[in-house]
Amino acid sequence: MALQYKVNPAGFVSETPGDNPFAPADTQAPRKINVLLLGSGGREAALAWKISSSPLCARLYIAPGNGGTTAFGENVALSPLDFPAIDSWAEKHDIGLIVVGNEDPLVAGIWDYFHEHRPSLPVVGPSKAGAALEGSKDFAKQFMTRHNIPTARFRSFTAETVDDGCRFLEELTAPYVLKADGLAAGKGVLIINDLDQAKQSLREMLGGMFGASSATVVIEEFLSGIECSVFVLTDGNGGYRILPVAKDYKRIGEGDTGLNTGGMGAVSPVAFADDKFMRQVEDNIVIPTIKGLIDEGITYRGFIFLGLIDVAGKPMVIEYNVRMGDPETEVVMLRIQSDLLQLMQAAATGSLGSLPLEQRPGYATTVMIVSGGYPGSYPKGLPIDIPASLPDETILFHAGTKRDADDVLVTSGGRVIACSATGATLEQALGRSFEAARAVEFEGKYFRRDIGADLMRIERERN
Ligand code: AMP
Ligand code: GLY
Repeated sequence: MALQYKVNPAGFVSETPGDNPFAPADTQAPRKINVLLLGSGGREAALAWKISSSPLCARLYIAPGNGGTTAFGENVALSPLDFPAIDSWAEKHDIGLIVVGNEDPLVAGIWDYFHEHRPSLPVVGPSKAGAALEGSKDFAKQFMTRHNIPTARFRSFTAETVDDGCRFLEELTAPYVLKADGLAAGKGVLIINDLDQAKQSLREMLGGMFGASSATVVIEEFLSGIECSVFVLTDGNGGYRILPVAKDYKRIGEGDTGLNTGGMGAVSPVAFADDKFMRQVEDNIVIPTIKGLIDEGITYRGFIFLGLIDVAGKPMVIEYNVRMGDPETEVVMLRIQSDLLQLMQAAATGSLGSLPLEQRPGYATTVMIVSGGYPGSYPKGLPIDIPASLPDETILFHAGTKRDADDVLVTSGGRVIACSATGATLEQALGRSFEAARAVEFEGKYFRRDIGADLMRIERERN
């Protein structure tokens, strides 16, 4: 049975339709817009697929995009961090909405740049102040403390307070969790079993192990439980929608072993994130987060990514991100029935109102095929062979691919293609994803054969 949970359609604060100067009036046909999507991964490929299916979308541009995003729009050679270049290009191409895939432009203040320089062009995302929920783990933890949002006990330390940090470690029990405060490309979290090693790593982090990102280090209590990802689209006026819940698989090896990666696969929905769990997520985490942002005067009109852990039935926040997840987006997009472009435009203009976000029943899965050697060093430029026919209900979202000078599709990154599928059952969707993962070929290809296996077990136990 597909798990469904109740979505509060209007948010908890009164609707503010009058706030939106850009929204088409209900009586008029919606005005088509050109959309600029920033990013180049599997997440952006999935967003591009979904956006391009919207009747509201006139033209879709992806900057810089990858070897597969051209199936859904036009790739543009713009850097997502060069705001003035994006601005003048967007003006020439009559862009009506900017969608930001990854966190870097948001943390660097793309929302504020356009708010100041071209307020007629909305950006889906938080202001720079809101992006600090991902850009600074210390800020995020303090924010959660201020708003009573359940999270692991923590303290933050700098080079001046390193001895206090060591004493705090002594108060905790193993394993010890050390986090670089700033962005560290997903590598800034260390989980260490030995106390002396943890103290040593604290000194090394504060000494510049992750550059300026670890000038402040958050030490927190270790939480044990199974993790899932919940995404919320909010309009900054109290309106929000909860998207289909997903689980990703971060480690390179089967059985969740080996090094962390950008994500090796994902599944939606998630058996343990049932109605009871999701009600707690909404009441104890989503609403206090959105209310907290408003109370602190922080503009946030985009996606909030809640990295959650189920601690004996109680959801707690491991981290906030200020964008969609990758590879969770590859399954979440497949499970959204409604027009996401319309929802994003409404969110970016402060007017989600009563627009519905309907979920498709059934399951979506993705299995990431990666380059041999990833997440260590790996070759690039290897030709990719995609068979002419794929299983039903299957879609390949390209991640690290590009077209070379001879227009041959080649590998260009660690994570190469997210083999994504839907199905009436988890088993059926997974079967399709694995079949596609086996069928696509390039030298050294690797994928995890156990994506979704834990959720299959949980489903069997519950039935
Ligand atoms: P983060 O970058 O904060 O998501 O951390 C990366 C990963 O480290 C998370 O997905 C968790 O698997 C793990 N992790 C982070 N914080 C904790 C914690 N307090 N307890 C247990 N595991 C954690
Ligand atoms: N899949 C986790 C992330 O996008 O950060």
